Amino acid sequence: MKTIFLLCALVAITYPLQAQDLQLPAPTRSGGKALMETLNERRSERSFVKKEMPLQTLSDLLWAANGFNRPDKRTAPTASNRQEQEIYVIIKDKAYHHDARQNILKFIASGDFSAALGQGNITANAAVNIVIVADNNKASQKYAHLDSGYISQNIYLYAASAGLGTVARGSYNGQALSAALKLPEKQEVTLVHPVGYLK
Ligand SMILES: Cc1cc2nc3c(=O)[nH]c(=O)nc-3n(C[C@H](O)[C@H](O)[C@H](O)COP(=O)(O)O)c2cc1C
Repeated sequence: MKTIFLLCALVAITYPLQAQDLQLPAPTRSGGKALMETLNERRSERSFVKKEMPLQTLSDLLWAANGFNRPDKRTAPTASNRQEQEIYVIIKDKAYHHDARQNILKFIASGDFSAALGQGNITANAAVNIVIVADNNKASQKYAHLDSGYISQNIYLYAASAGLGTVARGSYNGQALSAALKLPEKQEVTLVHPVGYLK
């Protein structure tokens, strides 16, 4: 039994990428609009035209949201450095978990996520729907939602800088979304961020 476990662990380390996973390119980590200009353009947008997001843009967006900007710390702060925030990404009919360390989108499930995401056209026309999840196994409960807010603002700022649109959304079906994303116990969805191309 121990040998099988060790073999599985070895395979997971040697081949972290499974068939339906997406390896993202390294994030750009430079450029973009100046901060004051970006803040001036930060706003909620709800009307998108359907268009695929290039993997480089997606990688930059996820890095801005909550990527590692130091060996063990991230673009978004967390209370007591609990790093309890997890990012899930829904692209069309596929859901992924973002492994920020390896910059891989790990495939979770495929299906129709529209009812769980809610707000029809906003989420349906977005290129991607980012789902921010707090892991309450790690979080200091008092701060879990607050910590999600920093990620939300990072997404807003990246979108403003890159000429994309986004909106923080609290009106999703939490139970359905948790089930669709197969969230482990005590992980909860705190916000959904459609990100898309402006009309
Ligand atoms: C925690 C939170 C939840 C929100 N939920 C929704 C939502 O469910 N649907 C929506 O259309 N906008 C939602 N918004 C966006 C707000 O309506 C928007 O930020 C507000 O109208 C101010 O507009 P601005 O972001 O362009 O400044 C939410 C914003 C926050 C911060």
